[in-house]
Formats: sequence, structure tokens, C-alpha cells
Amino acid sequence: MVKVLFVCLGNICRSPLAEGSFRKLVETEGLAGRILADSAGTGGWHVGEPPDKRAREAAARRGIDLEGLRARRVEPGDFDAFDYVLAMDRDNYRILNEARPAGAKARPRLFLDFAPELGLSEVPDPYYGGDDGFERVLDMVEAGARGLLAEIRRDRL
Ligand code: 4NP
Repeated sequence: MVKVLFVCLGNICRSPLAEGSFRKLVETEGLAGRILADSAGTGGWHVGEPPDKRAREAAARRGIDLEGLRARRVEPGDFDAFDYVLAMDRDNYRILNEARPAGAKARPRLFLDFAPELGLSEVPDPYYGGDDGFERVLDMVEAGARGLLAEIRRDRL
């Protein structure tokens, strides 16, 4: 089983959208038994909460189901439990690198490195913006999800 962890700050906007988008792609491709997706936040303010309502609604419009997800914080064991630990932006990438136990299996990577065609390195935080921010996040994470699955197919399956 290949295990992927998507990480943002609050685990209520970007990383649940990335998780849901990637999971939908994996299911569509018939790989649900071989690839597992999860998400977490580097901050703890929203632990136990479902994804932001705007994220759930934007996801639902694209056939992505975020029901049942609850925010959790990244923990040291995640770096051995997961093969991929993917940060939504540079701040969280830096925090993950500092939190990674020495010798752990996974090294953090920037999620959008899997979508070089976008010419972007960060998924912008949509929390304080309008609804269109969530649509843009979905466009980005869907592109990242496709690139990530291509690498997993090439290197791990
Ligand atoms: P996320 O968005 O990191 O994409 O889940 C945020 C959600 C909440 C906060 C910041 C970012 N917050 O500060 O509460």
C-alpha cells in the first residue's frame, strides 16, 4: 500500500481538498486498494472539526466527498507511516522539515512540484478569502493529484 499525507495549516481547507481530490482520482482509476490518502495540519486550532463548509460545498460540486473527515495535527509517526508527506505551501514545508524525526522514511515535498505546468509552488490559503478561492484551490490540487498519481504509477506500483 502506498500512503500519501497531504498537509496544510488548519487541515480544514486545502489539505482535505487535496485528499478528497486525490482519493476520487485513485478510485476512478481502480487503485483504491493500493493507495491510501490522508491529511493533517501543522496547526492545532481546528482539531476534531470537519472541513470548512465552503470547502465541502466546492468539493461536492465536483463530485468530491469530504463527509466524515475530521482535522488532526501532524505527528512524528506520520513520517514513517506515510510514503509521501506533501506540503501545500513553503511555510508548512519548512515546519514539516523541522518536525521530521531524524532517519524517518518520508521527506516532505511541496505538493505543487507534481504539477509543474501550473508554474506555482504554493496552494494559497483560501480561509480568509471568498468562495472563488476554493475553486482555484480545487483546480490546483486536481492538477497536483494527476501528477502525483503519475509518479506513483511509475515508481511504486
Ligand atoms: P488550511 O486553511 O490551512 O487550508 O486548512 C486554514 C484554516 C484555518 C486557519 C488557517 C488556515 N486558521 O488560522 O484558523
